[in-house]
Amino acid sequence: MTAQLIDGKALALTIRNEIATKIAARNQQGLRKPGLAVILMGDDPASHIYVQNKRKACAEVGIKSIYHPLSAATSEQTLIQLIQTLNHDPTIDGILLQLPLPSSIDSEKLLELIDPKKDVDGFHPYNLGRLAQRRPLLRPCTPYGIMALLDSTQEVYKNRHAVIIGASNIVGRPMALELLLSGSTITICHRFTKDIQKYVSTADIVVSAVGKPHLIKGEWIKPQATVIDVGINRLANGKIMGDVEFEEAAKRAAFITPVPGGVGPMTTTMLLKNTLQAAMNQDT
Ligand code: GUN
Repeated sequence: MTAQLIDGKALALTIRNEIATKIAARNQQGLRKPGLAVILMGDDPASHIYVQNKRKACAEVGIKSIYHPLSAATSEQTLIQLIQTLNHDPTIDGILLQLPLPSSIDSEKLLELIDPKKDVDGFHPYNLGRLAQRRPLLRPCTPYGIMALLDSTQEVYKNRHAVIIGASNIVGRPMALELLLSGSTITICHRFTKDIQKYVSTADIVVSAVGKPHLIKGEWIKPQATVIDVGINRLANGKIMGDVEFEEAAKRAAFITPVPGGVGPMTTTMLLKNTLQAAMNQDT
């Protein structure tokens, strides 16, 4: 392996310590703890684990998380009322609506009901629009965390070719907006893209967010590229791996994120950062 590992776990810890220090300073000034409402609907086991991890991370930095577990049978109207109540609650700075929601609920409609000032996931069309117009407020957590990982390499990414694989609302699309804002030239590959290799082999930065193990072959990676793997795939033997053939890619890349321990810890960290930001915005 010649690539340098980008250690998301270590960077996440550093940023979480900074957040904890800032929250402690706020408490000293007599300001209340930032408050995050966490809504989890249904019993998807992966979502339960994610929510548990997010709430634990909140507690560690001094954010008060208020849990709203809802059964999968809860009506859309009840969920709408809960979001409206939280929108008006002055002790709540952020609202996290864990996805996916049961198919009975119109997710986009519900996400749009969250007050953009409390939209700590950065999924509201207003916040995405602000990012698209180069005036970001609350930024989607995974792409925001990836930008922090890229910054940590101290490489210059202006005028570089970034290729994103995956065009989801949560990662691919906002990732393109973040990289565009940073001055990179962007290509997005998606389910209708025929020849992913053609694009990946010209990329100075590769961000894969698909969720298919071995999708990105190591031999496709341009020498000295930076490789960011957002995929979290659990194999039959229980092992977790990303979308990229790590061993082969690491022989060619200059920088690469491991899975686990790369992007994953940064997503939760940026949720904490956004929640503190939302609280500070409320102060002013
Ligand atoms: N489900 C998977 N990732 C996320 C995320 O970042 N935020 C929310 N709300 N739900 C998710």
